[in-house]
This record gives sequence, C-alpha cells and structure tokens, in this order.
Amino acid sequence: MFYETEGNAHGLAHDPFKAIVAPRPIGWIGTRGVDGSRNLAPYSFFNAVGDRPKLVMFSSSGRKDSLRNAQETGVFTANFVGRPLLDPMNASSIAAPYGTDEFIVSGLTPLEGRVVSAPYVGEAVAVLECRVTMVTTLKDVAGQDTDSHMVVGQVMGIHIDESVIRDGRFDLALADPVARLGYMDYAGLGPLFQLRRPKAPGAE
Ligand SMILES: Cc1cc2nc3c(=O)[nH]c(=O)nc-3n(C[C@H](O)[C@H](O)[C@H](O)COP(=O)(O)O)c2cc1C
Repeated sequence: MFYETEGNAHGLAHDPFKAIVAPRPIGWIGTRGVDGSRNLAPYSFFNAVGDRPKLVMFSSSGRKDSLRNAQETGVFTANFVGRPLLDPMNASSIAAPYGTDEFIVSGLTPLEGRVVSAPYVGEAVAVLECRVTMVTTLKDVAGQDTDSHMVVGQVMGIHIDESVIRDGRFDLALADPVARLGYMDYAGLGPLFQLRRPKAPGAE
C-alpha cells in the first residue's frame, strides 16, 4: 500500500506512523519550575543527536510542562527507563495540572542534579544531566509553525549505577531498557549481535 500523509488516508484502524519509526528510546524528562515545583514525564520523541559534544533532544507535542520548565530554567535531566520502572514511568505520564510533582505521584525518589539544578530519578540506572542549548518550534513544508516543540540539551554529566557496569561497559542487557513502539506497544531489548562497518578499499 501507499498513502499520502495529507488527509491520513491509510485506511487502517490506527495511524501506523509511530509503529514504523520504532523502537524509540524513552527520555524520562525531569525538570523544575521557576516556582520550585518538580516535574517528570516520559518523551519517546527523544534521542541522542550529537556526541561531540553530547546532545540529546526531546519534542513536545503541544506546549507541555517539561517544555515550559526546560525553557524557563535552561536545564533538564533525561532518565533511563529500565523494565522495573515501567509502571512509574507510565504513572508519570498522567496529564496533571502544572506544579504537580510526578516524582511523588509515581512513588519515585527525587534527587538533585550534581551539575544542573533539575531533579532526577534516584531509581534510574542512568541519568543525563543536561543544559538546554536550543528550543525550537518545528516547521512544516510550507514553513508554518507546527505544534511540535523541540528542546535540545547538552549532556553535562552522566550518572551510571555500578550495578549495570560489567566488563567496563554500560551493559544494556542488565539495564533492561524499555522502548516505545506504536499504538499501546512497548518492547524490551532483543538478542544483541555485533556488526563492523565496512572499510573503503585502501583505508586504514
Ligand atoms: C512512553 C510515553 C512516551 C511519550 N512521548 C511523548 C512525546 O514524545 N512527546 C509528547 O509531547 N508527549 C509524550 N508522551 C505524553 C506525555 O508524557 C504526557 O503528555 C505528559 O503528561 C506530559 O507531561 P508534562 O506536561 O509534565 O511535560 C508520552 C507518554 C508516554 C507514556
């Protein structure tokens, strides 16, 4: 099948787009409001977008609290969602009034960032402490603003729980990530395999 996205004429029961662009890592975004309130919410429009320096992004569909706080305070944390944290992650996605502390709602331990003034999830096996480098409203092909707003942050510090370091590596099997798919679907990590990139003839 083929369909043009204008009009969304896929004829399927549900929009397949997010099932196609999958699996997506979940950035569990911790922020603080200028009023001092804590905020925590999952974002699967989340990814690493640079490594020198280390940059991550999350994108808010509409103007949500994480966007507002990150924009106002210039900092956020991105917390790793492992399988044991699936339920609190989901609980923290509740549409709650501004100022609601989803750390408390979800039964999590809020800890204070070491280098940024934003809270992070004490139970998370990895946490990125980030400073906002850019907030931008994404545009469509006509150059019009959409209601998707992307926050890019530079990773200033990284917490890793010793329990998930094995043989000098961040052991993803131990960290047991949860990824977001389309619909109501999630996935865990499948079997790992390794692959080396090809070398151009004559390259070192
Ligand atoms: C796994 C998961 C991924 C999500 N990803 C996004 C996302 O990428 N962008 C978005 O705007 N909302 C996303 N949501 C919904 C937000 O988490 C939800 O609207 C939340 O209430 C926003 O909280 P905030 O207003 O405190 O930022 C996601 C929800 C879940 C459960």
